[in-house]
This record gives sequence, structure tokens and C-alpha cells, in this order.
Amino acid sequence: MSGTDTSRAQPETVTNGAAPAIVLVRPQLAENIGMVARAMLNCALGEMRLVAPNEPATHERAVSASSGADLVLRASAEFPDTRAAIADCHWVLATTARRREQVKPVMTPHRAAAELRARIAAGQKVAVLFGPERTGLDNDDVSLADAVCEVPLNPAYCSLNLAQAVLLVAYEWFQSGSGTPPYELVLNDTLPAEKDSVLNLYAHIERELELCGFLRVEDKRPSMVRNLRALFNRVELTEQEVRTLHGMVAELAHGSLRRARKLGIDVDKLRAAPLPLYTSKPIFDSSFCDKLTQLLVWRRDVRRFSTEPVSAAAVDELIEQACLAPSVGNCQPWRFAIVEDPARRARVRASYEAANAEALAGYAGEQARLYASLKLSGLDRAPVQIAVFADPDPAEGAGLGRQTMPQAVHYSAVAAVQTLWLAARARGLGLGMVSILDPAEVAAACEVPPAWDLIAYLCIGYPEEEHADPELVRAGWQDRLPVGSVVLRR
Ligand SMILES: Cc1cc2nc3c(=O)[nH]c(=O)nc-3n(C[C@H](O)[C@H](O)[C@H](O)COP(=O)(O)O)c2cc1C
Repeated sequence: MSGTDTSRAQPETVTNGAAPAIVLVRPQLAENIGMVARAMLNCALGEMRLVAPNEPATHERAVSASSGADLVLRASAEFPDTRAAIADCHWVLATTARRREQVKPVMTPHRAAAELRARIAAGQKVAVLFGPERTGLDNDDVSLADAVCEVPLNPAYCSLNLAQAVLLVAYEWFQSGSGTPPYELVLNDTLPAEKDSVLNLYAHIERELELCGFLRVEDKRPSMVRNLRALFNRVELTEQEVRTLHGMVAELAHGSLRRARKLGIDVDKLRAAPLPLYTSKPIFDSSFCDKLTQLLVWRRDVRRFSTEPVSAAAVDELIEQACLAPSVGNCQPWRFAIVEDPARRARVRASYEAANAEALAGYAGEQARLYASLKLSGLDRAPVQIAVFADPDPAEGAGLGRQTMPQAVHYSAVAAVQTLWLAARARGLGLGMVSILDPAEVAAACEVPPAWDLIAYLCIGYPEEEHADPELVRAGWQDRLPVGSVVLRR
């Protein structure tokens, strides 16, 4: 039968300690005895006593109706009358459907279960009497009992069959001893989110609601925020759900920026307010890993930008994330010059034009024709331009790791560029790297300390096109190499 662990239904394990005996007084039908056995075993009751049954407990119809609980039937005992059946008991409960004239305590099955448990705990033997199917217990049987149990049911129709009556009493008995919590949130493999990450989510949601204008009525704001928090608190979010909601909010927010600006909301100021630090340990599950792979596959060197502006706060966030990159000795040698001045931008662009013309001159024939057709920078339109430099000898890190490989400083700055690249792509921004430049010219245009080395000139903006393959592959300039061709085993 579904839901049954048959290995545990052995006679000695049925009751798990002392339990009431169920006494069926003059039961008429073998089927009912079988169904009572089933109800008893459901509730870990193993001791069935039969008073003058019309048909024996081992009758084949009883066994069949017991649905596998025949061990209760086989262990049952027969008695000629009720008195004999309860002779060894200290306390007896009679179940009835209607009030009798007798003065006796009357209790519900719920209260009776507590009474039965208390008496068993005090070492008493207890029994519950159930009468024949059609008539119920007669007054003489009830007079033998210490208390009466009545099941509160619809007064207009309270007829129960024998097994149902036994099940109601047996159920209460079982519940009163079961440790099953009345309410449980099944979390499977995940944990409820730590408060730190829930509060972080609230901050994220509230910031985006602010941006989209939802919280624009100043005096309603505090109560709206409290109500929202109360709503999410009721849900008892898991870590996974917190991450999903972060993702949803970020996606929704992306589309709402334009509307926020139209409403005159200071998007940049709000975005500039940092979210609390993510201090709780994250779980990078398989869906995150899939997303990460998508990010790597769809990261592109972008040279065609839309004119949609990128907020200063978004740029700040990208640089903040780039600064999480690894660096030799933790020397953090990256330096970012955000180039906004049109004259400086023009100087960089002129350097690119000159370097590109010179590069073209180095090719001949078909290759020169192909090179000339390539678009190799987005300097003409990219709304954001950043020159990334490396300080070749920073005091930070005290030289650790770079005495043998001084170039590791530059590699560290490259790691920051790559981090920024991925962070940009994750926000729907594109990044194009330009190296067809005279580094000295760019350094001069940016007026940076002379010792700094140019690592890359970055063009950033919303891409006009999305591709899963490099532009140079599509243009027929250079295919991707098979991974096997770049791996050596020694
Ligand atoms: C250090 C570096 C310098 C680059 N310089 C240029 C450049 O000057 N112009 C350009 O169009 N692409 C430049 N790229 C982009 C590469 O052409 C591009 O990464 C490559 O074709 C692979 O395409 P993908 O980045 O879309 O995967 C540069 C990339 C790197 C890593």
C-alpha cells in the first residue's frame, strides 16, 4: 500500500510501548473487524479484543478488509462477554453516539487521548469499548466503563461505521504521542536566508522602487516600505529565492530606468548609494553556473554602440567591481581615467586613426582589403570611455610576487579589465577594447603620471547588436582555436 513501510509493521513494533486495548463488543461483520485492524495499525495500536464476535477475526473477509494489517487480527483475543474482556484493565472508556442517563465524565477523543496517556504513564492498563455496528454499546456495557467518549459531529447526522469510529479515537491517541510538528516549512536542500541577505534584498528592491517612482509619495513611503518588508517576511525566503528575486529586480529595473528619468527622479544619485556588503556566504548553484557560462559565451568585444547614455552611477559600479580583481601581492595597480572631455577624446581618436592607417600599411593584398573593412573601435559613438593604466611599481603589496615577474603588475591590471568587461556584460552593457593607439599619446591626453603604462582604452555603452561569436570570426579574419590545440600535457 502506498505510504506504508511494511518492514516496520511487526507485532512487537506496532504500539511502541504500552497502548490502549481496543475492545469490539459483539461486532457483526468480519469486514468491519478487518477495517478496524487497519485503522488500529495506522495509529500504532496492536491490541484488539473481541467480545462474542459474529464472525472470527481471522475470517478471510476480515483479512482482506484489513489490507495488510492482518497481524493485528492474528494477535487478537476473543472473550465471551465485556466483563471478561476488561477484567485486567484499570480504566475503561466507552464510546457512544448518544447521551445516556448514567452519571459519568464525557470527553472528546482529543481529551480522552490525554487521559489514556496519563493513565498508561501511571502504569495502568486501559481499554476503549466500541459497540456493535447497528446498535452501539448497550447500557450495561456503558455501565462497566469509567468514562464516556463522544465524537462531536454534525448533530443532524453523526452515524459512523465501526472502523471510522475507531480511527477517530485512535488518531487522537496517536497524535497525542507523535512528535510531528503542527507546522513545518519543508526546505529540502536549502536554508532559510540569513537576515543579512534578506535585508540586502530589501535594500535592492527599495532602491529600484525608488528609481521607478513607486515610492514617490514621500509621506506614504515609510509605511509602504514596512508593508513590503512584512510581506516578504511572511514568506520566509530561502537563499535561493533571495538570489532569484535579486535577479528579477535587476532585470525589471533595467527597463524602468528610462521612465524614472522622465519622472525627474535622480537616478544617478540613488544608484550611487551603495548596497550593503554581501557578507553571507553565497551558494553558486547549477543555474548560476549555467548563467555564468552564458555570460562568458555572450561577452563580446563591442564596437557598435547605441547612443543611449550610461549613468555615472553605473560606471562607478563597474569600476567598483573591477577593483575586486586579483592582483600580484594584492598591489591593486589598476588606475582608471574616465575620459569625458571632448578634446581629450578627439586626441585619442586621432591617435587611433593614425595607428590604424599605419597598421593597414603593414598588410597587403586580400588581407589589406579585409583589414580595411573591419570596424576596430567604437570611439566614434561609445558614451563612456575609460583609459586603464597600470602603476608599474606600486608601494602596495611590498613587491610580493613581482621580483621574478615584474610584468605580473600589468597582468593584474588586465585582470581588472576582464572583470569590468564581464560586469558590464552582466548589466547589458558592451565593452570594446582598443589597442590600436599610441600609448604615449593616450597617456598625454589623459595627463596621468609618466610612469603609468597604458593597459587598455575601453569603449563602453549599450550594444547595437548581440552576438555569441566574435566579430573577427564573422568577418573571416581569425577563427577560434579548438581548445585542445592550446592545452599541453607534460
Ligand atoms: C588586449 C586586447 C586588445 C584589443 N584591441 C582591440 C582593438 O584595438 N580593436 C578591436 O577592434 N578589438 C580589439 N580587441 C578585441 C579582440 O579583437 C577580440 O577580443 C577578439 O576578436 C575576440 O572577440 P570577442 O572579444 O568578441 O570574443 C582587443 C582585445 C584584447 C584582449
